[in-house]
Amino acid sequence: MNKARHIAIIMDGNGRWAEQREKKRVKGHEAGAKVVREITEYCSRDKDIERLTLYAFSTENWKRPRLEVEFLMKLLQKYLESELDNYIQNNIRFEPIGDIRAFSKSLQTTLKNVKEKTAHCDGLVQSLALNYGAHDEILRAVNKIKNCQNDITEAMLGNALDCKHSVDLLIRTGGDHRLSNFLLWQAAYAELFFSDTLWPDFTTNELGKIIKDFTKIERRFGGLK
Ligand code: FPP
Repeated sequence: MNKARHIAIIMDGNGRWAEQREKKRVKGHEAGAKVVREITEYCSRDKDIERLTLYAFSTENWKRPRLEVEFLMKLLQKYLESELDNYIQNNIRFEPIGDIRAFSKSLQTTLKNVKEKTAHCDGLVQSLALNYGAHDEILRAVNKIKNCQNDITEAMLGNALDCKHSVDLLIRTGGDHRLSNFLLWQAAYAELFFSDTLWPDFTTNELGKIIKDFTKIERRFGGLK
């Protein structure tokens, strides 16, 4: 039986969730943040799951209206500050991925602080992908190792990435069927699941069902049965 050791989620549908309720889009992000907490705690209780990587802000999301971007930044900061105790209580290690140098000094400090204060936790690793794009991640990795004397190997490039762990199960909520520049290297052999549920409506129950279906898939990694 497969184990979903590393689960990655593209949390899509916040805006539509809010619009359906005639609310501002940012209300959808607020509701989405609560689901981040629930799903993370659920994963931390499942001993088979080692990593949960969540796409929270892409390198392309800067194109959104300024007020929405500012709201997301504040929400993130508030979320991390209020979650710190919860991370520690649930033995969750926080490891952001992406190029966080683009964020305000204050958000960078919060990110580093939560990372440091949870570094001793040895349960679930929750990675938030922030100012993350797979193309950007791969380019930064290549630039880190380009001056080495020998040919670049798969292992060298893999180790220079922000996220060094292959994904077992990749889920996208919100009805679209695309990867949107998320973990393109790490998801080479991931099983892909697409849900029509908008992220704020996504439940631990639905995640549990997806994991159950995942465990039954025969994964061959390019080989034969
Ligand atoms: C996609 O929905 C979602 C995002 C771009 C941001 C994800 C943010 C959250 C889940 C909440 C904040 C997270 C944390 C960790 C505090 P969309 O806005 O593209 O939705 P749409 O496709 O319906 O417009």
